[in-house]
Amino acid sequence: MDIKITRATTLKEKPDQNKLGFGTYFTDHMFVMDYEEGKGWHNAQIVPYGPICMDPASMVLHYAQETFEGLKAYRNKDNILIFRPDMNAKRMIRSNQRLCMAEIPEAMFVEAVEAIVKYEQDWIPEKEGTSLYIRPFCFASEAGVGVHPARAYKFIIILSPVGAYYPEGVNPVKIYVEDEYVRAVAGGTGFAKCGGNYAASIAAQVKAEKLGYTQVLWLDGVHRKYVEEVGTMNVMFLIDDEIVTAPLEGSVLPGVTRDSCIQILKDWGYRVKEINLAIEDLMEYAQNGRLKEAFGTGTAAVISPIGELNYKGNAQIINDFKTGGLTQRLYDELTGIQWGLKADPYHWVKILK
Ligand SMILES: Cc1ncc(COP(=O)(O)O)c(C=O)c1O
Repeated sequence: MDIKITRATTLKEKPDQNKLGFGTYFTDHMFVMDYEEGKGWHNAQIVPYGPICMDPASMVLHYAQETFEGLKAYRNKDNILIFRPDMNAKRMIRSNQRLCMAEIPEAMFVEAVEAIVKYEQDWIPEKEGTSLYIRPFCFASEAGVGVHPARAYKFIIILSPVGAYYPEGVNPVKIYVEDEYVRAVAGGTGFAKCGGNYAASIAAQVKAEKLGYTQVLWLDGVHRKYVEEVGTMNVMFLIDDEIVTAPLEGSVLPGVTRDSCIQILKDWGYRVKEINLAIEDLMEYAQNGRLKEAFGTGTAAVISPIGELNYKGNAQIINDFKTGGLTQRLYDELTGIQWGLKADPYHWVKILK
């Protein structure tokens, strides 16, 4: 790919690495590329980060043809590492296919991610637990009113230095089991990472926060019975000595962290069951002590222990609201691999050359 570079005339002051938060600061430059039917992807550029000019009739603003990704780059004392970018590229292809959007070939996606991260490498924080969050996104830029697939798209990558998700270490969160709103159904867009899914989820998130909960646990959209995933994480349960998580049947996002955890857990000798687990059964296991640990998995928090589940007013505390041994071990293993501090037998981390 030929990438034209326009350097920003003034560079921003880097934020305090102790106060990065999540998704607040953005780097000096971004990657942009255009698509037109008949011409394909073209005009790859690195340009100063800033507002983008859009026609008010841009189809994304009306019919929400938009997909995105989220991954991270890490810095250790020797290298810059990117975790499994090929998985995000593949997922974006599946998302774009579902929304009838132009696909970004895997090699092009990975090359673009690597190019912008390399160009902005001074922005990758080095303080322990910090990283550079990478947000690629794609949207219909053609101007026109009328529901049909757009013939023009933009692909952009922006970067945000982010802090340790848990500055005081890994802490359990309270989760509200949502039994009124639903997120996705098989045949819908649940498996795709598209903005529309998140827009539809906000009402439940607001409701959960009002009740003092961090995120919602979604149930399946047909029966409101089977456990699917948490707001921005897949979810796993240690029941007796087995791991249970929802299967990928179209309504759940196929998380890169989920996939990585399943491989590690299997290698540690755990039986991992990808099955439809009824919420009543889960609450019973929580009550009778068979549910030993519960945790969410996702790029932002990596592993997030669940300390409480509330379903229809029945609040069950899990593992005395403490981070479980397996949850902590998994967090240490995965973050160790991501920062290049532990062996990577899976060849997941890509060292930036
Ligand atoms: C709905 C949803 N489920 C699961 C995940 C976890 O996916 P990943 O591990 O690829 O970050 C995310 C985050 O991207 C998400 O938004």
